[in-house]
Amino acid sequence: MNLVIDKVRREASSLLDAQRRSDLGQYMTPSSIATFMASLFSYNGQARLLDAGAGVGSLTSAFFDQALQEGTAVDAETWEIDNTLGSYLKNTLDEYVLRGQGRIKAHIHAADFIEDATSSIQFSSNNHYTHAILNPPYKKISSNSKHRKLLRTVGIETVNLYTAFVALTVLLMGKGGEVVAIIPRSFCNGSYYRPFRNLILRTCSIRQLHLFESRNQAFQDDEILQENIIIHLIKGEPQGSVIVSTSHDAKFLDYRQTTFDAAVIVKPNDIEQFIHIPTATGQTSVPRLCAHTLYDIGLEVCTGPVVDFRLKEYWLGEPAEGAAPLLYPHHFTDGFLCWPKSHKKPNALQLASNVSKWLMPRGHYVLVKRFSAKEERRRLVAYHLPYEALDAAHIGFENHWNVFHIGKHGMDEDTAKGLTTFLNSTVLDEHFRVFSGHTQVNATDLRNMRYPSREQLRKLGQRAIDQPNDQASIDRLIEELAGLKNYCMQ
Ligand SMILES: C[S@@+](CC[C@H](N)C(=O)[O-])C[C@H]1O[C@@H](n2cnc3c(N)ncnc32)[C@H](O)[C@@H]1O
Repeated sequence: MNLVIDKVRREASSLLDAQRRSDLGQYMTPSSIATFMASLFSYNGQARLLDAGAGVGSLTSAFFDQALQEGTAVDAETWEIDNTLGSYLKNTLDEYVLRGQGRIKAHIHAADFIEDATSSIQFSSNNHYTHAILNPPYKKISSNSKHRKLLRTVGIETVNLYTAFVALTVLLMGKGGEVVAIIPRSFCNGSYYRPFRNLILRTCSIRQLHLFESRNQAFQDDEILQENIIIHLIKGEPQGSVIVSTSHDAKFLDYRQTTFDAAVIVKPNDIEQFIHIPTATGQTSVPRLCAHTLYDIGLEVCTGPVVDFRLKEYWLGEPAEGAAPLLYPHHFTDGFLCWPKSHKKPNALQLASNVSKWLMPRGHYVLVKRFSAKEERRRLVAYHLPYEALDAAHIGFENHWNVFHIGKHGMDEDTAKGLTTFLNSTVLDEHFRVFSGHTQVNATDLRNMRYPSREQLRKLGQRAIDQPNDQASIDRLIEELAGLKNYCMQ
């Protein structure tokens, strides 16, 4: 821990304008995390360091501290676009240059890293950094922005500044170069980040992934609720096993690590190349249960087809003749349908030709909320909509749902009950959190998960019929399913 740099960080943060802070993603790394990140590198006498979006220099100074201890000389290049932070950065680096007595050189580029890096990748051969330490800015990049266009000139297609910074850094590294970055976990899955995953997995090996178990702990001072991970990449090295480490928070007091086969992290045949992060406490029994793709078991999932504001003229506050029920997540209370409900949103849609195409026929469906409320314990929240629940030929499922169906129709009751029980179990929820980096539950995530066989789901559904709907009962049913070999492994 470096108390001096932490003081500088807090002082500089207090001077930043809130809007600019959010525009430039100025959330700075506490020194305990910076020290941990610097400890992951190998040091072998000479380093050429890159720190893009260096802030007040928290990461570079942690690197210098470690390098000096290891007897490694460092030539550092940092980028910082903000002048206020840049002047703090200059003080930090000047002090190390002095202290390093010729072993530390440091240069500040008071410039846009994306502009400089894209130009350097195209027109300069003087790249080849040996080490890079980053906490890049996080911000969406819109598709027509200058940054997006610059990134395309070097073949990078990505949607956020943080993935842009890491991708450019990877391209600037020499063979064997090491990148340690603290970044949001969202790149691990989701189709938007697929080109980014492809780039890093094609050009680097993942040596370590570190997970903070408490979501708001990494950037506690800045009240950042984002789930962040630390990733350690080696450029141009074949993928070996991966260390997955965890700590509750930025103090690392309960640090634990486990080594996993690379195939556990990125499934060999997964075209999406999702990055799964199993926790060091071990995997749950879910993988044993989940051998089947959704396609294998004859089910499909889609986002709720009704985008309500597009059909505003057909909204009905109350059920009526010639109308179809429109279901939102607020129509379920304690697991059960509560429709109609007095609410600012409609309860039904007037039938019309451009409404019908968004509806599904009456049947047994399984609905999963796309967005869970903060206070909800589980990220996966599933409901069974029984055939008998609504006396209507067609039903509208609003866009905040994921809907499990078979060819846009419902399924048999046992499958629906079994699937709902499976999706609501604690083990699956834990598994899903490992697998998914974001709080949203997308149809793609559900489509890419593995499931019990159809037969297992049906048996689970039959057993669930007379059981209470509380968490303990659901988990007991899943334990039975996981434990009874003949019952579950067919
Ligand atoms: C998340 S902060 C991290 C700062 C520092 N690396 C740390 O760990 O404390 C990201 C930094 O990137 C800077 N930044 C944002 N956009 C930039 C750009 N296009 N080029 C260079 N720096 C940028 C911000 O001003 C901010 O200081």
